[in-house]
Amino acid sequence: MDTELLSRKLTDPEFLLKKDWMIQNIEFKLKMIDLELSSKYKRTIMQKIDHRVKKPDSIARKLIKKGYKVTYENAAGKLNDIIGLRVVCLYSDDVYKIAELLKQQMDFHLIKEKDYIKYPKKSGYQSLHLIFDVPLIYKETEEFQRVEIQIRTVAMDFWAGVDNQICYKKSPEKMKKAETELKNYSNVISTMDRQMLELRKKVESM
Ligand code: GTP
Ligand code: MG
Repeated sequence: MDTELLSRKLTDPEFLLKKDWMIQNIEFKLKMIDLELSSKYKRTIMQKIDHRVKKPDSIARKLIKKGYKVTYENAAGKLNDIIGLRVVCLYSDDVYKIAELLKQQMDFHLIKEKDYIKYPKKSGYQSLHLIFDVPLIYKETEEFQRVEIQIRTVAMDFWAGVDNQICYKKSPEKMKKAETELKNYSNVISTMDRQMLELRKKVESM
């Protein structure tokens, strides 16, 4: 199958509508979790919730990169991140509080967890990634869809934003110098996250 046919399927209004429903569904759950945590800890927990549906050309590119044929079935069955949501919070311990509550939801089936905070990527990238299968119930149908939820601090999000703009997936020759610097800043950011957390805890115990 060619990219054009895949693209037609992925831009089909019903397909897109279902992705939208799914995003609303997950955002709703995240907002419930935010309410629960905010009321428990008496401070704002989630600073931001973003979402995106992966574009057909980037789906095709990823399938090729992973060695799969560019088909709708492979797009739906082999890729975890066609639907992606990102939650940003202030402190690194909040990342795990949010993740814990997500994992407790009986309709969220955890497929994979990648902890790039405990084990940052070679680039210096830090974030907690959770892959779930989530059911979408509408009328008499129930359909599971795979989603990737990234949870990270504002500082990690800042780092990833800069990295994404100047480095991630760009040509390797150009990027050597920037990569080394960014890697150092990733360390600066984890130190900063740790210090901010310690400060919060100190103030809480006063
Ligand atoms: P991708 O093909 O990049 O989606 O990777 P993957 O499916 O093997 O999973 P991984 O968990 O490594 O990455 C998933 C997502 O995390 C990416 O689509 C990016 O949003 C983000 N990410 C991973 N590594 C980096 C990085 O080095 N820099 C930045 N800015 N983002 C990254
Ligand atoms: Mg991705």
